[in-house]
Amino acid sequence: MCGIVGYLGSGVAQEPLIDGLRRLEYRGYDSAGVAFHDGDVFTLARETGRVENLANVLQGKGSQSSLGIAHTRWATHGAVTVSNTHPHLSYDKKFALVHNGVIENFSSLKKSLLHKGIEFSSETDSEVLCNLIAYHYSTLSPNSDSFIQAVSTALSESRGAYGIAVLCLDNPEMMIGARRGSPLVVGIGEDANFIASDASAFVGRAKEAVFLKDGELAILQGSEFRITNQQGHVSEAVAQPLDQTLEEVELGDFSSYMEKEIFEQPHALQNTLRGRFGDDGTTAKLGGLEGHEDELRNVDRIVFVACGTARHACMVAEYLIEKLARVPVEVEHASEFRYRNSPKSGRSLVIAVSQSGETLDTLEAVREAKTKGLLTLGITNVVGSSLARETDGGVYQRVGPEIGVASTKAFSSQVCLCAMLGLALGRMRDLSPTDGSNLVEALLGMPDLIAEVLQKGEEIRELAVKYSKAEHLLFLGRQSLYPVALEGALKLKEISYAHAEGYPAAELKHGPIALINPECPSIFLVEGTKLSAKTIANMQEVKARKGPVIAFVPEDIEIPEGAADDIFRLPVAHEVIRPILANIPLQLFAYHFARLRGLDVDKPRNLAKSVTVE
Ligand code: F6R
Repeated sequence: MCGIVGYLGSGVAQEPLIDGLRRLEYRGYDSAGVAFHDGDVFTLARETGRVENLANVLQGKGSQSSLGIAHTRWATHGAVTVSNTHPHLSYDKKFALVHNGVIENFSSLKKSLLHKGIEFSSETDSEVLCNLIAYHYSTLSPNSDSFIQAVSTALSESRGAYGIAVLCLDNPEMMIGARRGSPLVVGIGEDANFIASDASAFVGRAKEAVFLKDGELAILQGSEFRITNQQGHVSEAVAQPLDQTLEEVELGDFSSYMEKEIFEQPHALQNTLRGRFGDDGTTAKLGGLEGHEDELRNVDRIVFVACGTARHACMVAEYLIEKLARVPVEVEHASEFRYRNSPKSGRSLVIAVSQSGETLDTLEAVREAKTKGLLTLGITNVVGSSLARETDGGVYQRVGPEIGVASTKAFSSQVCLCAMLGLALGRMRDLSPTDGSNLVEALLGMPDLIAEVLQKGEEIRELAVKYSKAEHLLFLGRQSLYPVALEGALKLKEISYAHAEGYPAAELKHGPIALINPECPSIFLVEGTKLSAKTIANMQEVKARKGPVIAFVPEDIEIPEGAADDIFRLPVAHEVIRPILANIPLQLFAYHFARLRGLDVDKPRNLAKSVTVE
């Protein structure tokens, strides 16, 4: 969603700010702007559309200031217009503010400010916050303490979620950031400090980062900074080394982040697996679960909560964990779980899965589980994210930043970690050492099998060329390949805008078969189990109705003549690995399908990378 970056240092702010905005583009946005503190005025530049438009406007002019804030906006309150674009200036032009999140009581706050004669120039909730700060400041003597006090008071009157960065004209060496429900991080560099919604904004410029907790303020003053709560009490600033590299956040030779992230999966998955197996090679050892062994041994139900692709990974986990550990597993949309009052025993374990670790519904589901006294674990890719901080324990995915809006490598690593969790839980119960070591071996061999599938990328491109005119596609699979079918359909629709649906293959006859015609291709994921024969029979039903069939099939499964129009062969693999392998060509299929339609796969319309609002 929206992105924030602020700079306070000894250099010129413009380049790091625009560069930071470029790095945040992946989050999804529809307009971008920047404000520089230029002595007695704020210099403001705001443009709808791409960050590049803003960069072009600033080229050759702009500001020499060393203090500024910038923003990419994803419209919530008010249309995509320049006046609604951040930064917002206060009515008295003394404050500049950028805001992520939603101020829920903005209309009552606005009404009371209007009564005081304060005027507004946008439709946004963010401008209300900016004016509220300015109003409180106007009642105090103009100094840095008043700046802090005005921000704290305004925030205490605001309901909802925010991550903000604010500047005040009277304080040319100061920037304040604050968060509640929307991520914010301070970047510590050698000759500059930063505030951003995502550390990738300052990778290469800052060496360490301090992730703010909800309710905290970051006060940057000159070359110093401190973290406080809203009452002004200083909290400990735990600085973490920034281990992201420029290579990880830049495109290199790839034409899109999605392509880069699909192809980096062999390496990324090696990182997910590295150093996470016991010495006897029969189980997984996940550091973030240490100290919870007794609770995990006694768990009688696991509830996964997640959204979108992460939820599909959880649905695969349901099959894997039930098989490996014999524990009943449920998967809920985080947005449903948080409002549903389903009975859960004290021995239920809630596992939240989120690449960003900032998806609001997933975080709220965790908070609800904690209210009920349940043990919560998180699986996330982002170190220091809200999910990592708020759960009782958890595991990092370690696949490097995922920048493409469509989640690819994160899905594979989430499934991989769930399989490892199933292995660990299984070994605590009744999974034999032999079955355990077979699985360890299979997991360690998985990165090579992914690389083998990726080497056949050209075959997938040709399939995409053949079917790229299709406007409706069905994705079908059984058991753990059913969620992969859902994921394949989601990937295709989100980046190509073709209509795609995933179903369990056996559901075909219960409705979707009515859609079959020569223009509606069916993509079948065939298992390597006894069930394959049944899936092949479903393929034949589609062929009998003149529907084109593309089959993704392990090398050792025979497909009868005429049952499929196209066959893509997958390596033979342990059943736990198959869902990950089967998904790789579907990622590539969606990627090529969208590219052939001339679409920007990294910035699909209406979508944001991290959904931090409800
Ligand atoms: C789809 C996609 C989304 C996310 C969902 C959850 O490609 O990326 O469906 O999976 O928004 O995001 P996280 O995992 O960050 O909670």
